[in-house]
Amino acid sequence: MEQLLQQIEQYRQEIAAIVPDGAEALEAYRIRFLGTKGIVKNLFTEMKNVPADRKKEFGQVLNDFKLLAESRYEGWKSQLTTGDAETASTIDLSLPGDPLPLGTHHPITLVRDRIVHIFGRLGFSVAEGPEIEDDWHNFTALNLPENHPARDMQDTFYIHQHPDWLLRTHTSSVQARVMESQRPPIRIICPGRVYRNETISARAHCFFHQTEGLYIDENVSFADLKQTLYFFVQEMFGKDVKVRFRPSYFPFTEPSAEMDINCRICGGSGCSVCKHTGWVEILGSGMVHPKMLDNFGIDSNKYTGFAFGMGIERICQLKYRINDLRLYSQNDVRFLRQFTGAV
Ligand code: PHE
Repeated sequence: MEQLLQQIEQYRQEIAAIVPDGAEALEAYRIRFLGTKGIVKNLFTEMKNVPADRKKEFGQVLNDFKLLAESRYEGWKSQLTTGDAETASTIDLSLPGDPLPLGTHHPITLVRDRIVHIFGRLGFSVAEGPEIEDDWHNFTALNLPENHPARDMQDTFYIHQHPDWLLRTHTSSVQARVMESQRPPIRIICPGRVYRNETISARAHCFFHQTEGLYIDENVSFADLKQTLYFFVQEMFGKDVKVRFRPSYFPFTEPSAEMDINCRICGGSGCSVCKHTGWVEILGSGMVHPKMLDNFGIDSNKYTGFAFGMGIERICQLKYRINDLRLYSQNDVRFLRQFTGAV
């Protein structure tokens, strides 16, 4: 009994000496003194060993000790939570959050999407094809046989291990694939990346982007071609845009024409972009050569069609006044961040 009382006294001193610490120390304290196998519980089980005449006295001491251990626990706990509340009140919830930098669409993507949208309204759907092409789809099927001089204009990169493979020079290869697998009426545009073997400069790059289009049906005429492309540039650049068609040559179209619009940079007064002519070429076009239709088993007596192809970088240049092709692929965020809105 005396020993027990001594023990309790020691515990009291221990509790009195405690310097309250964090939540972990509090929990350790709780387990040690108040847990189901803790000191207080253990002391109560000692009750049975206490002589009957001193049970009352011991019970009193034990109860006091229990209350002390509990109140120390409660005091410590509330000190911890008010401490937390104090920390919480020092957090200023009105401060702005950490900035999360959001990307923007690349200008090429913006212009491409706009082109797709405009032609979409005219019923054109998007067709895609491989960037690594074979000679047939990129050249031969398009009336550009080997040694044809027009091939020189579109020198590209060849795959060493596979001489028949090359990086496509235009998305006309997609038109070839569509004519191969679909029957008229055909109304598609094919946006995509194309490659040419050019030295990189402000005006030339080894890759760029095109959107070509193809429309084949009965009774498609040159008037349809002109009106479709005129509608396109009006939607892209505004109703005040002026167009002019110049006769040209492409092996896969006959007759062929290049389309110019009045310079959007200088308004026609003359600048380096329009080479002081007031006009800028934006696309090549023409009526699909009957031989092409026959190449793909489409009856050229029944069907006619038109095709066109434009460089997206050029449209972008006129839309946003970007005069150096290298900017598109340098990934400088100061350049890219400027194009946030819809075209
Ligand atoms: N494929 C041609 C080029 O890349 C453009 C074009 C397409 C011309 C369709 C006429 C018809 O230069």
